[in-house]
Amino acid sequence: MLHSASMPPLTDTLAPTVFRKTAETYTSGARTLPQRYFVSPEVFVQEQEQIFARHWLCVGHQSQVSRPGDFFVAEVGDESVIIVCDQTTTIRGFYNVCRHRGTRLREAAHGCAAVIQCPYHAWTYGLDGRLMGAPAMDQVPDFDKANYSLHAVNLRLWEGLIFVSLAAKPEPLEKVFAPLSGKFTHWNLPALRSARRITYDVAANWKLIFENYSECYHCPGVHPALAKVSPYDSAENDLVEGLFLGGYMAIAKGQSLTRSGKTCALPVGEIAADDHARVFYYSIFPNVLLSLHPDYVMVHLLRPLSPGRTLIDCDWYFHADASKAAEPCYHPEDAIEFWDMTNKQDWHVCELSQLGIASRAYEPGPYSPRESIPAAWDREYLRHVT
Ligand code: FES
Ligand SMILES: [Fe+2]
Repeated sequence: MLHSASMPPLTDTLAPTVFRKTAETYTSGARTLPQRYFVSPEVFVQEQEQIFARHWLCVGHQSQVSRPGDFFVAEVGDESVIIVCDQTTTIRGFYNVCRHRGTRLREAAHGCAAVIQCPYHAWTYGLDGRLMGAPAMDQVPDFDKANYSLHAVNLRLWEGLIFVSLAAKPEPLEKVFAPLSGKFTHWNLPALRSARRITYDVAANWKLIFENYSECYHCPGVHPALAKVSPYDSAENDLVEGLFLGGYMAIAKGQSLTRSGKTCALPVGEIAADDHARVFYYSIFPNVLLSLHPDYVMVHLLRPLSPGRTLIDCDWYFHADASKAAEPCYHPEDAIEFWDMTNKQDWHVCELSQLGIASRAYEPGPYSPRESIPAAWDREYLRHVT
């Protein structure tokens, strides 16, 4: 159930059900990855084939395509994919490739249109991908429009987020995501709305972004403002091995992770009492960082462009009712500015890492006990790159 302004205040009756700590192991002797994983074009190509062309990748949120005809174009690995809402409000994904002579169909990043029409010879496709019109092709013997639908990509929704897989036969998303089943229900993700997206162009390998996100060993020095409201040593992880890693950190009493330190919006959902003083951080292999706060949810989507360059879309999601005029507590910029500053601090040290790792002097270094999650992330990564 959504939590609106007219509802009674939250009570203590909701138990913090989402968190069950799993035994966390610190593998003594774990070291950072060898240099080639951060700089080698061959490893990058291998990752594209073995990870990004096979796994479920998040491309956005269902609210971006909520009305028939709404579309956006997503770059998935080295492919361009059209995500579109069809006439029945089903979200679909298609390769951005015309079935006539292969032309890219959509150039605009997003928009709304009743059909998908090729800019070259005007073959026209319905929102369900079926070829509806192909000028003069009725004169071609045996030409059957039914044979020239757009090529679909596998698409599934999970907690309102849109995932696609380019694999011919991907493992069902529901099976892959089973460890997260029901875990984030209280944050109401399907009903949230993004107030802002900032795209960062970071001169660092995508794995450095994950490793950075997965520990707060760096927080006292790199994020003095964050460390003040969220003690760097308060991490409690409950997913400690596998595709999904993370847990929560404490938020100081009466504080929020905002510039002002005050709550900046309605609670995103029916947040359990204890979780009002927690921020949950989870990485979803291989392209999502999910940061769940009581009053907003931040989602980073990563897209590796080269061994040393990663594009990161960062969205700040709020309760759909948060922006209503009657909500004086809605100050999304308070959260956005706080995390924009913090994000840039992170990207900066990731870029410095990239520079140092490229040196002939680099050799894998030892992880500390506070870096068990980056070490687990590396282990998982190595399971997928052969
Ligand atoms: S290439 Fe698309 S209609 Fe010709
Ligand atoms: Fe950080």
